[in-house]
Amino acid sequence: MRRTLVAGNWKMNASVEDTRALLAGIRDAGEQSCEIAVFPPFPYLTLAVELTAGSAIQVGAQNCADQDSGAFTGEVSAAMLSDIGASMVILGHSERRSLYGETDAVVLEKTKKALTSGLIAVVCVGETLNERQKGEEEVVVGRQLNLLLQELSDADWKNIVIAYEPVWAIGTGETATPEQAQAMHAYIRRLLAGRSAEIAQDTRVLYGGSVKAANAVELFSQPDIDGGLVGGASLDVAEFLGICRA
Ligand code: 13P
Repeated sequence: MRRTLVAGNWKMNASVEDTRALLAGIRDAGEQSCEIAVFPPFPYLTLAVELTAGSAIQVGAQNCADQDSGAFTGEVSAAMLSDIGASMVILGHSERRSLYGETDAVVLEKTKKALTSGLIAVVCVGETLNERQKGEEEVVVGRQLNLLLQELSDADWKNIVIAYEPVWAIGTGETATPEQAQAMHAYIRRLLAGRSAEIAQDTRVLYGGSVKAANAVELFSQPDIDGGLVGGASLDVAEFLGICRA
């Protein structure tokens, strides 16, 4: 059984005050039937870990380094995240791939560091609008997953979540239709099945891209969608909780 995960990617938003308010709002709503994780910016991670202590809410980072330690100014290692009590990390988000030049090889290295440090890696894949218009979405997503499928062990896959985020649906208000999302999720699961039936059955595949309380029920009721990676709507307690209830 794959437990639904609703993950809030705050991106480069929030403050100490916002972090307190958002987490108090989510906590006060009490236990939800889905698993919940929040991904605040680095400076607020420790505060988020403190504020969620004793609750089922998990805290993760939005990135980590592909190196263990040393002279890498501005970088944060997976071991540091684990050390402060984070349990997850988002890797290979399309914004990191497009704005900061992260390649599939870099994403693989970061994923290995995350897993070695005991973190759950939420690895993002997804095609651009141009790639979809050319009918290349499966080729692109297949390529993004290929190294992970080749290089990671069965044990590693127990700690990986895949997030399918079509780039054209991120922050645009345009959501993939439930049918479009389900088709890609089913394709991703077929790729996982090529590696092993168990990995295909157990790995959670989240959908991301303009998820809101109003469209979450329809998206999450698709057989291969195991929850959502939520950007904008995760900064609003009522919206985020609406998605969790979905
Ligand atoms: P939006 O929900 O704002 O479209 O962002 C999606 C996303 O990129 C989550 O990682």
